[in-house]
Amino acid sequence: MEIANLVLTLTCVISFTCTHAKIGYFWHITDFHYDPLYTSQGDTRRHCRRADERGSSGHHRALGRYGDYSCDSSLELIESAARYMRTRHSENVEFVLWTGDITAAHFSGSKDENYQAIRNMTELLSRTFSSHFVFPVLGHLDPAPSASLTNLWMHWLPLEALQTFQNGGYYTIEQSHSKLRIVALNTNLFSARESNSAQATHQWEWLDSVLDKATDNKEMVYIVGHAAPGSDSRHSYDVSSDANARYLRTVRRYARIIAGQFFGHLHADTFRVIYDNDRPVSWALLAPSVSPHRDPVGSSNPGLRLYKFDTNTGKVLDYTQYYLDLATANRNAGGAEWTAEYNLTQYYGLHEISASSLHNLADKLRIGTPQETTVFYKYLRAYSVRHDSSENCDGACAHQHFCAITCLEHLAYRQCVEAAASALAAAGDTAPLVTSSFFKLTVLVTFVLLLI
Ligand SMILES: *[C@@H]1O[C@H](CO)[C@@H](O)[C@H](O)[C@H]1NC(C)=O
Ligand SMILES: *[C@@H]1O[C@H](CO)[C@@H](O)[C@H](O)[C@H]1NC(C)=O
Repeated sequence: MEIANLVLTLTCVISFTCTHAKIGYFWHITDFHYDPLYTSQGDTRRHCRRADERGSSGHHRALGRYGDYSCDSSLELIESAARYMRTRHSENVEFVLWTGDITAAHFSGSKDENYQAIRNMTELLSRTFSSHFVFPVLGHLDPAPSASLTNLWMHWLPLEALQTFQNGGYYTIEQSHSKLRIVALNTNLFSARESNSAQATHQWEWLDSVLDKATDNKEMVYIVGHAAPGSDSRHSYDVSSDANARYLRTVRRYARIIAGQFFGHLHADTFRVIYDNDRPVSWALLAPSVSPHRDPVGSSNPGLRLYKFDTNTGKVLDYTQYYLDLATANRNAGGAEWTAEYNLTQYYGLHEISASSLHNLADKLRIGTPQETTVFYKYLRAYSVRHDSSENCDGACAHQHFCAITCLEHLAYRQCVEAAASALAAAGDTAPLVTSSFFKLTVLVTFVLLLI
């Protein structure tokens, strides 16, 4: 009997076939936009910094200690986020993805001050995750890869990763105890300015070879980067159409081994579906920022995301989106209360996270029946992390979201938006879609409640 048990255990250890899905977690945090010059005595027209002595302005609205919707992050905001992450799941957290834009957009400090700010953020994360690895990628506001940056992140990355990081800002991490590989990209090399550089060419060659090897080794892969592929009409950041198309071709080719793509950059909670001949084959999830400010206009509440995954296969099972209601936190003498905003599968009623389930969700975001626009309302609420923006999202705006989610080729996106615009013009539909349908729904619910 004992021998039989021993044999069984040994077989399990050797083959892994008897092990059940082991659940693990990882954080995805992004776009800190730490502004060392943020001050609650600051001026919102000067990015919440102190007005200079000469032009002491009339803008004396007291700003909150945790930040302001029109400005980048205060140190206190980022520290409160770090404190909160420490209290969650520290046991089962396997790693942390940190997807760039570490310092504020308008931080005009010297190179050295910028480096200091990055070092301070690195130290904060090292203290927060003292027994975990943080995998950083570069955002478009971060400095180009260098020896000093490599030294700063040396304790998180193995030697081979440090070498490719220093040369081009990209690297791969092999998980020792599972068949999951992390591929960290430098998406700055996709920009129109850099897409023809030698570094960009090297990254493509390297990416192909890493994905080929992963295929041979039967590994699953997470792709991590700052800016997701595709278009977003709001953003002027110019990704080269060629680089964008090449990335999408790569994803299609290796879709079977890509278990997830994780990006930041937009300061919004959204997702992308990648198709191959109309068949959904891959997905990307975009996490909202810690910074409450969205360039050039817009705001959201600060967010942090904790993914739940199967550590054997890399399959993403769910995530919990955490957030801080910034207005409340600033009013509250007790301090910042981060809390769970929603869980992906529960919120949208998904039975799993896959290209086809996210395709079905995207389909519900098309302009349509009130039932569908309720989903759209939920999406929009999550998009800004429950920050009620005053801007109305009308039919055209709603359709732009749909196009951004499903049409990642630049040309396809433009055609999608234009097709919708002419359809809407033909229908004479200019009514704010969300407000009106949500209003209808509210009226309906009230009516039903009155009846019973
Ligand atoms: C970094 O931290 C040090 C030590 O706390 C502080 O003196 C310095 O002002 C900080 N610099 C920045 C840019 O945050
Ligand atoms: C999300 O899931 C976690 C556990 O997986 C649970 O503790 C939490 O209450 C859920 N939160 C929401 C907002 O549904």
